[in-house]
Amino acid sequence: MNLFHIFVRQRSLLVLPAFVAVSLFLFSVSGAVSAQELKLDPKKVTGPDACGECHKNTITAWKSSKHSTTFKKLPRSKDAKKIAKAMGLRRIKAASDCLSCHFTSGIPKKKVKPIAGITCESCHGAGADYIKTHSDYGGKGVTKENETPEHKKERYAKSVAAGLIRPSKLYEVANNCYGCHTVPNEKLVNVGGHAAGSAFELVSWSQGEVRHNVWYSKSNDEASAARKRMMYIVGKSLDLEHALRGVGKATAKAAYADSMEKRANGARSALEKVAESVKAPELAAIIAAAKGAKLKLNNAAELNAAAGKVGEAARKFADNYDGGDFGSIDSLIPGSDKFKGKVK
Ligand code: HEC
Ligand code: HEC
Ligand code: HEC
Ligand code: HEC
Repeated sequence: MNLFHIFVRQRSLLVLPAFVAVSLFLFSVSGAVSAQELKLDPKKVTGPDACGECHKNTITAWKSSKHSTTFKKLPRSKDAKKIAKAMGLRRIKAASDCLSCHFTSGIPKKKVKPIAGITCESCHGAGADYIKTHSDYGGKGVTKENETPEHKKERYAKSVAAGLIRPSKLYEVANNCYGCHTVPNEKLVNVGGHAAGSAFELVSWSQGEVRHNVWYSKSNDEASAARKRMMYIVGKSLDLEHALRGVGKATAKAAYADSMEKRANGARSALEKVAESVKAPELAAIIAAAKGAKLKLNNAAELNAAAGKVGEAARKFADNYDGGDFGSIDSLIPGSDKFKGKVK
């Protein structure tokens, strides 16, 4: 049920009733796919074309990334068929076990079905309730330049309440990456033979093919040095949080448990290295919480509690600092030779 917990955690309590509504809806419409596994409410998914009406350059950058191409490629891939067969699944695009991470599901007609790969909404939240609000500077004749500061504040407050995950909310936006890239699904790994998570690191994995800093400027510049420091630390904290929950789900001593344990230990040591020079109480709290929980099988309660504390401190860390003072960790941060995939 880890995916369920991630789903609930990354959204405010306000959205919970919507979640309940989705479950009822999905169970009644499609029967097979349960809401917690889809991560997004298909009723609220607009699809990438709707975002692309305005965000044209962003769509262009996204289209050549694997997040987009997996939609067509995965169902034809031999490796995918092998995994599906081992899992006893017949159709990849109908199996909730694949849909949750490789596809975005919407309701183009009456039925819930996958409409694209990993899309804008997989990271920025399902768009139906904020798509108008977030881009409305205040009615006719009002532009970005003459929007009042009060209106801007209100516009974003409303949009966030309606589900927009802003790029500036580093913990929230990156939380999505780890929900997929740690592959928290024991059966998929042990029985299906799926990769036991990616060798994921937030700076290197976000600054290559995924990069799309093409809205506020055209040149798709790399994140600033300060932002990269924050990405590195918040990323390792999220890795730790998800790995603790991941170990918590482990029931058998096999590939899944081994890999999650390694992930947790790796992330913790990386953060300990950071803490040698970055003196922040939030960081100390993250490390202490992780140390207090035993990485062993069938220990979900203790590991989930520790993960909760790590998450809470990581969110505060992300909101309280801007990385400007953390130059001491620059040697730990992967350089551009490590960026994953080609930048568009
Ligand atoms: C009608 C045009 C339009 C559509 C459609 C649209 N956007 Fe936007 N978007 C904008 C504008 C305009 C801004 C900049 C607002 C500002 O200047 O504060 C923006 C900003 C953003 C931002 C950055 C917000 C921030 O915190 O700086 C994100 C993320 C975003 N949009 C995502 C999306 C997603 C995802 C979709 C599809 C679900 C979408 N947009 C659809 C016009 C649009
Ligand atoms: C919990 C999230 C998650 C689920 C569920 C999931 N995958 Fe994946 N899958 C990933 C991630 C993340 C990668 C990328 C691994 C990397 O490159 O580091 C991946 C990569 C793959 C790859 C290798 C890349 C490619 O496109 O050839 C295959 C094959 C694959 N998955 C098949 C499947 C199949 C089949 C299912 C359903 C039975 C499935 N996956 C379910 C997250 C998931
Ligand atoms: C894999 C997750 C992911 C996907 C998919 C994704 N984004 Fe983003 N987006 C992010 C992250 C993370 C940032 C912040 C990047 C940074 O700070 O370097 C961001 C930044 C942005 C920004 C601000 C860009 C700027 O110029 O500063 C906008 C606007 C945006 N995204 C819109 C979109 C739209 C529209 C799509 C779909 C075409 C999309 N995003 C797809 C994760 C994602
Ligand atoms: C909804 C699940 C999901 C989310 C959210 C997600 N990813 Fe992915 N990502 C995948 C899957 C699945 C693949 C593999 C696609 C394939 O090759 O079939 C992938 C592939 C990638 C790749 C290409 C890897 C390679 O082997 O070349 C990069 C880079 C990447 N993701 C970065 C990110 C970053 C950075 C974020 C967050 C800002 C993120 N992803 C969020 C599921 C996700």
